[in-house]
Amino acid sequence: MKSDHPLTQLEADEQAEVLRNKLNKWANEYYVHDQPSVEDSVYDQAYQELVNLETDFPEIITPESPTQKVGDQTLSVLSKVTHTIPMLSLGDVFSKTELYEFINHLTKDGYPYDYNCELKIDGLAISLRYEKGKFVQGSTRGNGRIGEDITKNLETIKSIPKKLSKPIDIEVRGECYMPKSSFAELNEARQDNGEAPFANPRNAAAGSLRQLDPKVTAKRKLSTFMYNVADYSQVEATTQTELLQELAELGFNVNPEFRPVNSVDELNQYLDEFETRRDDLSYGIDGIVVKLNPLTDHGTLGATVKVPRWAIAYKFAPEEAETIVNDIEWTVGRTGVVTPTAVMDPVILAGTTVARASLHNPDYLIQKDIRLGDTVKLHKAGDIIPEISEYIPSKRPKDSQSYPIITHCPSCDSKLVHLDGEIALRCINPMCPAQLSEGLTHYASRDAMNIDGLGPKIVAQLFEKQLVNDVAGLYNLTFDELLTLDKFGEKSANNLLAAIDNSKANSLERLIYGLGIRHVGAKAARLIAQKVNDMDTLMQATSEEIAQINSLGLVIADSISTYFATEQAKKLIQQLKAAGVNMKYLGKSSTPSNSFFTDKRIVLTGKLADLSRSQVSEWLENQGAKVSSSVSKKTDLVIVGEDPGSKYDKALELSIEIWDESHLKQVMQQEN
Ligand code: IVH
Repeated sequence: MKSDHPLTQLEADEQAEVLRNKLNKWANEYYVHDQPSVEDSVYDQAYQELVNLETDFPEIITPESPTQKVGDQTLSVLSKVTHTIPMLSLGDVFSKTELYEFINHLTKDGYPYDYNCELKIDGLAISLRYEKGKFVQGSTRGNGRIGEDITKNLETIKSIPKKLSKPIDIEVRGECYMPKSSFAELNEARQDNGEAPFANPRNAAAGSLRQLDPKVTAKRKLSTFMYNVADYSQVEATTQTELLQELAELGFNVNPEFRPVNSVDELNQYLDEFETRRDDLSYGIDGIVVKLNPLTDHGTLGATVKVPRWAIAYKFAPEEAETIVNDIEWTVGRTGVVTPTAVMDPVILAGTTVARASLHNPDYLIQKDIRLGDTVKLHKAGDIIPEISEYIPSKRPKDSQSYPIITHCPSCDSKLVHLDGEIALRCINPMCPAQLSEGLTHYASRDAMNIDGLGPKIVAQLFEKQLVNDVAGLYNLTFDELLTLDKFGEKSANNLLAAIDNSKANSLERLIYGLGIRHVGAKAARLIAQKVNDMDTLMQATSEEIAQINSLGLVIADSISTYFATEQAKKLIQQLKAAGVNMKYLGKSSTPSNSFFTDKRIVLTGKLADLSRSQVSEWLENQGAKVSSSVSKKTDLVIVGEDPGSKYDKALELSIEIWDESHLKQVMQQEN
């Protein structure tokens, strides 16, 4: 840890956990469901934030961090394929300077200036296996080691040869993509049918390939460009340039724009040429891939866990697009901050459809002087977040007027304020429905009170119908009231009531986190609960006393004491107590520092008969263990239930200690 770092390790870990959860959720939406809920750029920025935190605090890296994985897990319904030779991703650079640095490094290490430049096709990586020249199996990359079997779907794609020009065994890798015209057609048809459009050609290609019914894939007009083989001993080529020629001779579609380069000038010419020609191509590209040419050097240099050391992707500079601002929406967050967002005509920007851009705060909006009806230039900040650069004065409507900054909360109409000279505009009404609604969603969330079935849509209805006014109101909801919610039958009403009732028995740390006190994350909440043991002690503790707990620091401590000093908080806790919500810590008095489990990395797999996974995870974490989702060399122990999957095989392969459920139960009894 850096001593001058603005964050403590605990804070960094807290932030990393939030980022990991978000990134894993987004990756799941993207890779598994092909329906991302955020722009690529938002993902990239959060990813970069996580990389920065992990660079400054390497101790917080966990195996389930997206930075330690390639791609994401796979859709369970398609059968799995193990890539005996992993399918790697590529390192990225965003400027020519970084690209030159990458090459200079290799030059210094004695590798001559001999590279093959290729277009970086915006599609989905696939692997095709041929035996005696016949196509036998095709798969997606999945997480790089295990992908999905999509043989039947790939058989419908014309550019994939079913028989090669030579009867050889070979595994060929490349990209499956959707041409721009097919993408536009498909999205139009989807919108006409009331289906959600795909965000970009890559998602469309992925969604089309990962179908259970090959007839759907067949209709989608996909194509391929192949650029690599799993094992170089399967080809005669000695350079990447020759490899592409050999693949073409075997019958594969190879992108014709590849070019060997032997000097920085030649490299530059290629980069500039395709930055210009990019829009004229009939398929999407998102950069240029530069690969060291001699294949023997690929073997010598090898790869890191994720990316080869002999190739790099140069990503194009951010694109700009023009669009019209139709509306400015104001949203109230859980902490009362009111944020303006520009709502615009949708435009494609660097490969994704963008229709909203945050205007951050009123000062920003005033400074940019964005008005309704303005034509604006939109770019992705650092190739990342959609941002309005400026309005175009010549296109401003004649009757245009400055956009009035709101003075009252869009939700509760109370007067908005700037606290302590903050730039942010805030609603400070503790009873503001928008804040309460955000707060209740947080209270019910998985890491807080874990009330299954109580998501944002149900919460919004509960407030609209005035069935609840705050968190405590949840515990007074009746069966009949729940039946008035949209699509709520007896079963869902009973399930929700049971989930709400179950939440009363949660241990204190969940409640502390669920209250949504500023700066108090799930981990800080657990440390606090372990120390204070019950809510009354916490409410009476001074800021200094709280700050001492595991060196939480004054920011968190002040925030907690300020929170509990308010009458609303005191009343809320009173009401929760009256409703029967547990106010005590139910785990161990504190994490035993000398437990067998301290700092052990543990993975659970298979179905446990008597214990629930969440119970076991919680118990292990209380013992100081880190429970992770994937098995790696760093894993110390794998706990195996019935029908374990590949994690069990991996544990055997890596000779990791394995326990079954009955052994775990014995140990749990001894420890408790
Ligand atoms: S080479 C070890 N070449 O970009 C070889 N990848 O961002 C690694 N991609 O996973 C890949 N065009 O899906 C390579 N000409 C090209 C490519 C290309 C597109 C994709 C590929 C890769 C991703 C990394």
